Amino acid sequence: MARRVVLAYSGGLDTSIAVRWLMENHGVEVIAVAVDVGQAAEAKNEDWEAIRNRALAAGAVEAIVVDARAEMAEEFCMPALLANAKYEGKYPLVSALSRPVIVRHLVAEARRHGAGAVAHGCTGKGNDQVRFEVGTRALAPDLEVIAPARVWGLTREDSIEYAAKWDIPLSVTKEKLYSIDENLWGRAIECGAIEDPWNQPPADVYTMTRPTATEPAEVVIGFESGIPVSVDGQSLSPELLIAEVNRVVGSYGWGRLDMVESRRVGIKSRETYECPAALALLLAHADLEDLTLERDLLHEKARLEPRWAELVYDGLWFSPLKQALDAFIVESQRHVTGEVRLHLEPGQCYVVGRRSPIGLYDHGLATYDATDTFRHQDAEGFVRLWGLGVATWAARQEAGRGADSPPDGRTR
Ligand code: ARG
Repeated sequence: MARRVVLAYSGGLDTSIAVRWLMENHGVEVIAVAVDVGQAAEAKNEDWEAIRNRALAAGAVEAIVVDARAEMAEEFCMPALLANAKYEGKYPLVSALSRPVIVRHLVAEARRHGAGAVAHGCTGKGNDQVRFEVGTRALAPDLEVIAPARVWGLTREDSIEYAAKWDIPLSVTKEKLYSIDENLWGRAIECGAIEDPWNQPPADVYTMTRPTATEPAEVVIGFESGIPVSVDGQSLSPELLIAEVNRVVGSYGWGRLDMVESRRVGIKSRETYECPAALALLLAHADLEDLTLERDLLHEKARLEPRWAELVYDGLWFSPLKQALDAFIVESQRHVTGEVRLHLEPGQCYVVGRRSPIGLYDHGLATYDATDTFRHQDAEGFVRLWGLGVATWAARQEAGRGADSPPDGRTR
């Protein structure tokens, strides 16, 4: 059994008591690793130093805070954007994107501290355990994975009691209404009143999309090879750009999702999300692809996108198929360069214009006015050959029956 364990630490009740639980039940030293993936907005009432100190107070021999916001933005959110990734056509993979970032740091710290295992605070009912464990095994097949919350069988009350018994300081004592997971790409809200899929999410579940703006506005997103690089002409790093778009689009109360989601572990769950930047950037990016990608590439990519999203959702960020799809996706983005205009008004965000110096829209070809450059005479032969196979079939095999008769030959 491992002598040292690296624990994914959030500062919350579960991972705080997990520190002591691992010491007591596995006889190990615990190294707590908190990874900042942009969840600061949620933890606003306390800073990372307070979170670090709590881990130490709980008994960790070492507590480390890693600022992974730029990494999260550049290496995880950006690839998801290039892939137009939405699980089940809706969810932009918020939590699913942060887990591999955290895993990377858990494994790095395990190596640095000579730990033989990593641990996480997930229960057995969710996707996050899958992502932590499959991710860890992909990067470090030799490491053990321990999941205390899957075995300890503690209720929330038991946990609070356990914390009190070991003098583990807790953050907020007020009753927690929802289970929240947050990062740069958005915010997932579960539990409480929204566990009934019929119940409308109460207004208090939302923090990133509280409507404050009243005047319609426009924001122009600039892209280079698929990556958003500017907002209204101002160059920004992915991390700052995401934050800015979250702020602007969120202020219009747009970017919410309310869905029933199919978890990897077989459970249907009611999920509420707010991800204004992710959804707005996905909208703009896909629109620019319509302008800049040749038809076959555009269509083939669209077929692969749901698969990419599913792999990442299922914890297979580090996997050979995902890597191969990434190679395709990156190649596909070479010419996705240009600008997209987003119109904003309370409760709405939509594309009103797009342009690109290398766009495939050719006004001469598209126009119906006098500047038309399209060779109309080419169309007749093209269309005749396009339909030749069907015409032959209709003449030889369907003659007399009529191709639109019902299959059993009955007349309508
Ligand atoms: N259902 C989402 C997913 O699997 C969000 C999970 C969020 N986790 C949480 N503890 N609230 O990606």
